[in-house]
Amino acid sequence: MNMPANAAKLSVSGKRLIRRIKDLGEVGKLDNGGVNRLALTDADKAGRDLVTSWMRALGMSVSIDRIGNIIATRKGSKDLTPVMTGSHIDTVRAGGLYDGNLGVLAGLEVVETLNDAGLELDRPIQVAVFTNEEGARFAPDMLGSLVFQGGLALDEALQAVAIDGPTLSEELQRIGYAGQDECGAVKPHAYVELHIEQGPVLENKGVQIGAVTGVQGICWIEFEISGVSNHAGTTPMNMRKDPMAAMAAITHFVRQLTRRYGGHQVGTVGHCKIRPNLVNVIPNQVIFTVDIRNTDRALLDKAEAEVLAYAQEVAQQEGVTLQHKSLARFDPIAFDPAMIDRVEANARDRDCSVMRMPSGAGHDAGIIALMCPASMIFVPSVKGLSHNPAEFTHEADLVNGANILLDTIAALAQE
Ligand code: HGY
Ligand code: MN
Ligand code: MN
Repeated sequence: MNMPANAAKLSVSGKRLIRRIKDLGEVGKLDNGGVNRLALTDADKAGRDLVTSWMRALGMSVSIDRIGNIIATRKGSKDLTPVMTGSHIDTVRAGGLYDGNLGVLAGLEVVETLNDAGLELDRPIQVAVFTNEEGARFAPDMLGSLVFQGGLALDEALQAVAIDGPTLSEELQRIGYAGQDECGAVKPHAYVELHIEQGPVLENKGVQIGAVTGVQGICWIEFEISGVSNHAGTTPMNMRKDPMAAMAAITHFVRQLTRRYGGHQVGTVGHCKIRPNLVNVIPNQVIFTVDIRNTDRALLDKAEAEVLAYAQEVAQQEGVTLQHKSLARFDPIAFDPAMIDRVEANARDRDCSVMRMPSGAGHDAGIIALMCPASMIFVPSVKGLSHNPAEFTHEADLVNGANILLDTIAALAQE
């Protein structure tokens, strides 16, 4: 049976969507209400097992590819390329219930709503769970979608080393998600992802939906600075080779750079290892990361060059040795104009206020956009909080986002 014209007036079940969000949120749950499902840990495995059980219960066929991406397919009536949605279920170390999870579970909710209505669409619908989107345990972020799109070689990705030691390949094998299917064998007809905004814009402006125009550029650099361990009390200041002093100067420089650039420029020093990390010992080594981002490619290139030049200069001044390596580097990505129009129009059809906006966070959609027309639907984050156990989005906003996802997928599946 083909999709009747009134299919767009179907509505998802907010209760069912929230139930799944909460049930998945129990996997890797922290005492403070947050979630720790770092990529390819036992908790991520348990989350994958739960989500694939839901996929199968919905009658979807489930494929695991060689980088561990989970691709579930709802059959279509015609032999056409699929419409894909999805996101990730790996989290940062103290994450929230919605980042990534909403995109996957709203995709399942769309499928269940279509199943309940007995609607058969021309195109297959696929819901993807991409491996290691966060990049918190293995760099780079969006690793699974990057391999799926062809932007990162499978073998290189499999050799990524976790911040706690094992390779990605070892962890995939260990949790039983080293699939056999080729990555990205079937290019989607189109891709649309529902995600929380993870920032304060929609809430501050009182707007219900973001029609996302693209994803800002991302540059992750890991610095390793080596000096000379020495006694904190006896070593004269002019004899020190203190890598921590260099790191502090670079951190301050990054903050100053964001003030100088203004606009969308952001900069973060979020990960740091100090050795020997003792109160009375001048460190002999610090390893830390700099995350800088901008919507403007030229400005991001300039910021990256400035940070690297300054780091060399301060290392020389402090008499320490500096090494650095790129952990991730993405140019800003623009979504397909027709897909942005579609999200905006579908938001209006659902009587939602909507605004166009770039994404400050990286997303799988930004990578899949390199292989097919793609866009994203944002819903507001309360207090703009994310990557934080207090991450929250109101049920009404979740339902709005999922209904617009339903309408967008249903229309794409009939073209
Ligand atoms: O870093 C990011 O923007 C995303 O959360 N991986
Ligand atoms: Mn995310
Ligand atoms: Mn995230």
